[in-house]
Amino acid sequence: MKNSGLFNRYPTWAIVVILMICFGGYTLSGQTVSTAAATSADLTGNWAVKVPRSDGTNTWAYFNLKQNGDKITGSIRVTQFYYTIKESAGGPENFTIIGTMRDGKSDRTVKYEGKLVGDELHVSTRRRPTDNPTESVAKRVPEGEGAMPARLPLPALHKVAYNGLAKTPPMGWNSWNKFKSQVSDKVVREIADAMVISGMRDAGYQYINIDDTWEGERDAQGNITSNKKFPDMKALADYVHSKGLKLGIYSSPGPNTCAGYEGSYGHEEQDARTFAAWGIDYLKYDWCGARNIYTDEEMPAVYQKMGDALLKTGRPIVYSLCQYGRQDVWKWGPDVGGNLWRTTGDISDRWDSMTRIGFGQNDLAQHARVGHWNDPDMLEVGNGGMTDTEYKTHMSLWAILAAPLLAGNDLRDMTPATKEILLNREVIAVNQDKAGIQGKRVSQTGDQEVWVRELANGDRAVGVFNRGAAPADVAIKWTDLGIKGKVKQVRDVWDKKDVKVDGPDYKVTVPSHGVVFLRVKK
Ligand code: GLA
Repeated sequence: MKNSGLFNRYPTWAIVVILMICFGGYTLSGQTVSTAAATSADLTGNWAVKVPRSDGTNTWAYFNLKQNGDKITGSIRVTQFYYTIKESAGGPENFTIIGTMRDGKSDRTVKYEGKLVGDELHVSTRRRPTDNPTESVAKRVPEGEGAMPARLPLPALHKVAYNGLAKTPPMGWNSWNKFKSQVSDKVVREIADAMVISGMRDAGYQYINIDDTWEGERDAQGNITSNKKFPDMKALADYVHSKGLKLGIYSSPGPNTCAGYEGSYGHEEQDARTFAAWGIDYLKYDWCGARNIYTDEEMPAVYQKMGDALLKTGRPIVYSLCQYGRQDVWKWGPDVGGNLWRTTGDISDRWDSMTRIGFGQNDLAQHARVGHWNDPDMLEVGNGGMTDTEYKTHMSLWAILAAPLLAGNDLRDMTPATKEILLNREVIAVNQDKAGIQGKRVSQTGDQEVWVRELANGDRAVGVFNRGAAPADVAIKWTDLGIKGKVKQVRDVWDKKDVKVDGPDYKVTVPSHGVVFLRVKK
């Protein structure tokens, strides 16, 4: 009988291979490997999701994955956050990856779940476990796209010369507290108008500072551009200058800013030149994105780079360091060219946030001086999260602390009380005192604190604060203020009138969360 069929037409080894393929697997060193997974359904690759923002820029997520059996390694980049995958489970049909990244002294974590659908990666994540998932579809992109830029060497430390600016704490406005990503050319022009109309300019407010989210992409020559919200920065600067005001801007030493926009990394001199050409007068330089490249210990060299770059432009530009008070910035801020440096994390429009920051500044007083200021963050006065009594406490404390007075509210729409607080010239005079001596706490009894600032003409600014829930009587002893004998004059700067005193002390009743703010002449 003649042999027929498969065995007749193919050698035995070929038939074994055909059967292996038909039954979807084969055995290698005792391990079953899915042929489907080994060929088409592999997570390995560089996957990207691009989500356009309305300002013409994009946010990105990159999943640079390597699948090795049931293990997934690689990295996850979510615009300004670069995570390394530390844990994984599952495979192409259903996987979970957990990435972590170092941020100063703490870790950030992100978790994605997903599956491969054809040649697309479907992923979902939740900000908090109780949130609804955000779902997106990632497409394959070339290897290397979205990768963290290479680390650039840092310069040796040297002393950057003082730029001669900010002889008193800077005064002005900043967009972040109120507007966040909603700041635009229109908002800035209207705020400049309001600064003039409200009388704030004439009271000393000068800088109109655009915070994060103005940035566009870089052009072919690497020049930073502004996004759709700011069609022409130079024209905007001209407008602000025409009002007798100055314009400030924001960037980061990292590849991205805190809000995930383009940073100045590797373009420091070029950006400083662009800012100068636009007519910028103030730069807030915010660490955030630099954490992916440099350690906190390297901050001085990183900040020095921009300090040098600003000086080199020849334009007077106030240099504001924003790195949340890490690394005892008050000790090296002036040496890198800083005129002011944030001393804490972000303020929010709440009593506990404002008081935690404001009353926590006592030990830093010695580091403030003419041209170089501690910055406990921008004002929240008028933003609605505190009472007017609490906002008076905020303003008084910032005046005693010789803190920058950067209003953070919508100046186009202020209540009479907000105006009264921001425009009190006697309070502003304390803040702007030319001796530049930061005030300190001289006594504390329970929730009541007395803070004193010595002024250039020998007067003392005295803040009697009550952090408690009920009104409180507080006695101030003139000797505690360094005044021996009688005082000549005591003026209540919120009530705008002199008060009568004739003994060795003075008793005041301070409302809950309130302040009695005095200017005392010896
Ligand atoms: C950080 C800063 C804020 C603000 C935002 C902008 O959080 O501390 O003041 O500039 O970034 O993204």
